[in-house]
Amino acid sequence: MGGIFGFVSREKISGKILYEGLRRLIYRGYDGAGYAFLDDKGKLIVRKKAGHIEKIWKDIGITEIMSDIAIAHTRYANRGWPKDENTHPLQDCHRRLAVVVDGIIKDYENIRNDLTREGHKFISTTDAEVLAHLLEDVTDKENKIDDVIGIGRIVDGVYAFAALFQGDRRIYVLTHGQPLVIGIGENGFYISSDIPSLHGFASEAVVLGDNMAGVIGRDGFTVYDIMTGGEVKQLIRKRVKYPAGLWDKAGYPHYMLKEIYEIPHALRQTINGLMDKYLRLAAMIIQGARNAYVIANGTSLHAGLVSLYYFADLAKIDLEVVSAAEFPYYGLEHVGTGTVIIAISQSGETSDVIRSIKLAKQRGAVIVGVTNMVGSRLTLESNVYLPISAGPEIAVPATKTFTSTIATLLVLAAYTGMHTGQIGQGDVRMIYSEIEELSKRLQHELPRIDRDVTKIVESREGWDNVYVSSSGINYPVALEAALKLKEAAILHSEGVQLGELRHGPMVLVRPGFPVILIKPYEEQALELYDKVVREIKSKKGSLLVVSMDEEGENAIRTVHTIKYLAPIANIIPLQLLAYRIGVKLGRPIDTPPGLAKAVTT
Ligand code: G6P
Repeated sequence: MGGIFGFVSREKISGKILYEGLRRLIYRGYDGAGYAFLDDKGKLIVRKKAGHIEKIWKDIGITEIMSDIAIAHTRYANRGWPKDENTHPLQDCHRRLAVVVDGIIKDYENIRNDLTREGHKFISTTDAEVLAHLLEDVTDKENKIDDVIGIGRIVDGVYAFAALFQGDRRIYVLTHGQPLVIGIGENGFYISSDIPSLHGFASEAVVLGDNMAGVIGRDGFTVYDIMTGGEVKQLIRKRVKYPAGLWDKAGYPHYMLKEIYEIPHALRQTINGLMDKYLRLAAMIIQGARNAYVIANGTSLHAGLVSLYYFADLAKIDLEVVSAAEFPYYGLEHVGTGTVIIAISQSGETSDVIRSIKLAKQRGAVIVGVTNMVGSRLTLESNVYLPISAGPEIAVPATKTFTSTIATLLVLAAYTGMHTGQIGQGDVRMIYSEIEELSKRLQHELPRIDRDVTKIVESREGWDNVYVSSSGINYPVALEAALKLKEAAILHSEGVQLGELRHGPMVLVRPGFPVILIKPYEEQALELYDKVVREIKSKKGSLLVVSMDEEGENAIRTVHTIKYLAPIANIIPLQLLAYRIGVKLGRPIDTPPGLAKAVTT
């Protein structure tokens, strides 16, 4: 993965915009950053360095340049260590072109060997450098787009790139499984890996579909279909509009903390952004389905697991929740006409999700997408999609998108329940007002919860090998909390079903062993819960309870709400706990090493 940004304009623009663009795309990778631009005489200049853009921006002088054309990149090191020479832009032998690439090139070793035999000299150990050498022969041609299209036809992989040639004031782009959008600004055009990063620079974004190539000049752009070579006239356009200040940390030390504090607002945005028309359509599809799967990865998978309880309860529909990484190997023979796939992905770009829905579509399944990124691959591949409207999330550990995805799935399940006749319109209205009520309470109580969490983190040591456990609708919350502890606090943690604790895991609990219990909502589970509490206490484990009613030195009290919203109420203290432990341990909270916000290759 990587983030691509750039511009071509009728006037000179400061490199500060490149810097800002890369900062906004930082969730796509932070192993190195660089840029290429043309000077007044058309000379190509490239500067780059390994490291996080916020650490190396001065070294590469990105904010000092002024130019009318530039491309830039922030790197996630897929192939090739995070080193200066592996950082993009990558260049040809004569340094007359520069490419920035997001994704992976399949079979690059063979291409590289062939090119080396032809005399090309490689500098990096990346797969992406082959693109620079493949483009080398076209540097002097007037009509370079044909060759760019040719590359799209012969080079296999999952990638998108932008290329800049010496003496040519146009940017060439290509999409082959990775996203790229063209932003339309007042005085020219921008390119980026996503739409939100264009905020403030462009008013509209043109979303390039898969297998498209484009040439962008100061006065316009043309997009081609790689397969037919013909011009694509019908392009998807999206408005670029986000609230001001979105990209600042707004006084918070980390994006993760800011994004947790944004949850109440994001929940309101979620319910305001869901349109009756699409909810009805999605509900109709699910209600009429022969079988239904939820597929997702990571945090989105945990949100999907919560929806299992919603659909069973509110619509009397049984869903199968499967990791998108496992879906291709799991019961594909049951996927066909009449199957519905609810595909969840915050980024809308996760490769496991995209691959799985493509497989399902080939077999005749219908796709209902749930995503935070309008214009993403998921929205392009879905028959109908629901935006969660949480606003851009920058920290790699997902927080507000988890809670907004849950709210979206709850509303969708309620609509489906209305279609199956299980619940009435009044019930749906009640769910909406409960979400609003929860948002208000959280707005008020979040600082208090944070203080309680901080006190506990300050007073305890030995945060490692943590169990997080619960049952019923809060069980997926335990899994999600364990994931947050891994991502933000970089410590080993395990989410365990409450009853399962007694089938093995309990043997590890000894004096001081941290166990976090989320008090189950379901009455029937409380007896077991009490038993487990007693067992942990007798083993002198370090117990911490998250619940809606308990307080004290071993408990964090969250806000009161209905059963369906308990997962939202309960995850917040646990997100804060992971955050506060991460701070205590000095972890790079927003950018955990070796992780990316979305795994796209
Ligand atoms: C990566 C991230 C996780 C995220 C998962 C799914 O593994 O590190 O935080 O939950 O991808 O991402 P998605 O964008 O598909 O929800």
